[in-house]
Amino acid sequence: MVENKKFYDLSVDQRLKDLSIKCDLSDAELNAINGASGLDLEQADHMIENVVGLYSLPVGIAQNFAVNGRDVLVPMVIEEPSVVAAASFMARLAKNGGGFKASVSAPEMIGQIQVLDIQDTEEALQALTKNKSKLLKEIDDLDPVLKKLGGGPRDLIFRKINTSVGAMVIIHLVYDVRDAMGANAVNTAVERLAPLVESITGGRVLLRILSNLADRRLAKAECKIPLDSLKFGDFSPETVRDGIIDAWAFAEADPYRAATHNKGIMNGIDAVLLATGNDWRAVEAGAHAYAARTGKYTSLTKWEKDESGDLIGTLEMPMAVGIIGGATRVHPGARAALKIMGVESAAQLAEIIVSVGLAQNLAALRALSTEGIQKGHMSLHARQVAAAAGAEGDMIERIAAQMVADKQIRIDYAERLLEKAKKI
Ligand code: MEV
Repeated sequence: MVENKKFYDLSVDQRLKDLSIKCDLSDAELNAINGASGLDLEQADHMIENVVGLYSLPVGIAQNFAVNGRDVLVPMVIEEPSVVAAASFMARLAKNGGGFKASVSAPEMIGQIQVLDIQDTEEALQALTKNKSKLLKEIDDLDPVLKKLGGGPRDLIFRKINTSVGAMVIIHLVYDVRDAMGANAVNTAVERLAPLVESITGGRVLLRILSNLADRRLAKAECKIPLDSLKFGDFSPETVRDGIIDAWAFAEADPYRAATHNKGIMNGIDAVLLATGNDWRAVEAGAHAYAARTGKYTSLTKWEKDESGDLIGTLEMPMAVGIIGGATRVHPGARAALKIMGVESAAQLAEIIVSVGLAQNLAALRALSTEGIQKGHMSLHARQVAAAAGAEGDMIERIAAQMVADKQIRIDYAERLLEKAKKI
């Protein structure tokens, strides 16, 4: 660390220098992460339609994360103050208990095929089961690169569902996508299967698309926070621990609270997904559908105490992320973000992301069950308000501190303070 200062206390230039040394970043990678170069208009024009520009967001680096015994710096792209600081602080507490232990299941995505106009559903299901190997063979060589890497079709599951317009046969293709997010591979495979499915069932295939409820592609993180690490201001460690557990129980029992609780988890998760060019809408959709898998929307995390009184947290959720293809490959900032994390597989990335989600949840519950969220949040928010009022450089901190001290964090007040400061 430059001059042994905390990352937070360094200037932006010093932070970049520190980062480039620690992560061995080239000038091009550094420029991709600091916004000097990064995605250009021409690249953007190939990514989506009707391109007229680029849109920037802050990139912060979360500190103190140890995931499966490896220290990792985590780039986060987010506009909300306090998220990066909160994740970093909680990662430090988790480090006191050995860091995050994370794991993933096989990278199996699900593709769905909807079959309509079937005369006899049971007969169609039997015919599909009989022809399962033929169907799997149809797509076995579809993606030779994926096959070479050990991926490809794994299974077919045949279901009957009752809907408001009648019974339907739904086919689930289980497809191992290795290090890709997998949407393209899966969508190509289900489209290829459609004609054969029609000839086997005599039905009509309508939808052929990936499911974002990627419940066969789960990532799980666990952490232990030693009781004595939980002391916070005037709050005893036991009060903080029990407050976190009670706050979690509220989310477990009540969907109104669970939605906000899970939103806090996604604050961290989305920020890393964005930094790495991943499809955050897909992971959001999977997270919330998974949270409702029992029929009742609930918390994605669990907090409890162990026999020693330490706090134990777990988070398990679908994590459809990739490190190859799409924006992860095209966006220079996303590539630099992967390098900063030292990530070499989608599994490793998923393990880091789910750990960040768990840390973020801990930060929110700890703040909410003690001093409340506004104290820490508002002092950071005050900086944004001061900047929005036109403050620059050191003046941002001065105006922000004054607003916090006066408990008046509003743009009109910031403007008044700024006017006053300029006259001195
Ligand atoms: C705010 O962005 C996130 C929180 O509302 C999460 C939570 O309530 O658990 C603080």
